[in-house]
Amino acid sequence: MPDLKSPLRLGVNIDHVATVRNARGGAVPDPLRAALLAEKAGADGITAHLREDRRHITDRDIEGLMEALRVPLNFEMAATDEMQAIALRHVPHAVCIVPEKREERTTEGGLEVAREENKLAHFIAPLADAGCRVSIFIAADRRQIEAAARIGAPVIELHTGAYCDAHAEGRFAERDAEFAKLRDMAAFAHQLGLEVHAGHGLTYDCVKPIAALPQVMELNIGHFLIGEAIFTGLEASIAHMRHLMEEARNEQAGEGAA
Ligand code: PXP
Repeated sequence: MPDLKSPLRLGVNIDHVATVRNARGGAVPDPLRAALLAEKAGADGITAHLREDRRHITDRDIEGLMEALRVPLNFEMAATDEMQAIALRHVPHAVCIVPEKREERTTEGGLEVAREENKLAHFIAPLADAGCRVSIFIAADRRQIEAAARIGAPVIELHTGAYCDAHAEGRFAERDAEFAKLRDMAAFAHQLGLEVHAGHGLTYDCVKPIAALPQVMELNIGHFLIGEAIFTGLEASIAHMRHLMEEARNEQAGEGAA
């Protein structure tokens, strides 16, 4: 069972540096430069999502990241043959399987694992055999978590989008209900022996309750950090996020000891 005392890791998602670059079709701002800066600022890993339509990260970005990064790359991808072949060519440290729809603006929901169990089990097996740590991006839903455990995924990432949106829009009763699901399902997944990550939509305002969940070992955060970097710089935005995460963790440890 994953160790509850492990420090909380921060994976910085650099997709939206590529979004800005691609708005003009040139070479700047360079996502690789952002990744190296994030590494310097204390990111424990870099996350990049190679979408089927290549709307932000490109195949060349992935090559550059694989060559230059010292921290682990978490390669986000849909469960397609094309992406599996790319992952098997590069063998990144981690592969996170996400649902993907062309018409969506961002990854809207979690993966439907329960209905696609056999297919996904066969899909992730070669990735795990090659040495990638496979994680499955899912909603905080018992059925999906049980299915993720059954297909042999060592890691799940819980989708925090609904919680973050409810917080940002002032729907606090809904936010609290979403948070309760995340809290309970993080504990449930941990009991099943899964390593628990979380991410999507996290900001300075809503990160702490998630960071305080003792079973959560890693947060993956992108859009807010890149947006905030416009005002404060990337190193400062990452450093402040880390600070809040650590503060939440320490407060929670203090409560546990009290
Ligand atoms: N985790 C996963 C699996 C994602 O798909 C995304 C968005 O690409 C994130 C985390 C990061 O979300 P955000 O950019 O909203 O911080």
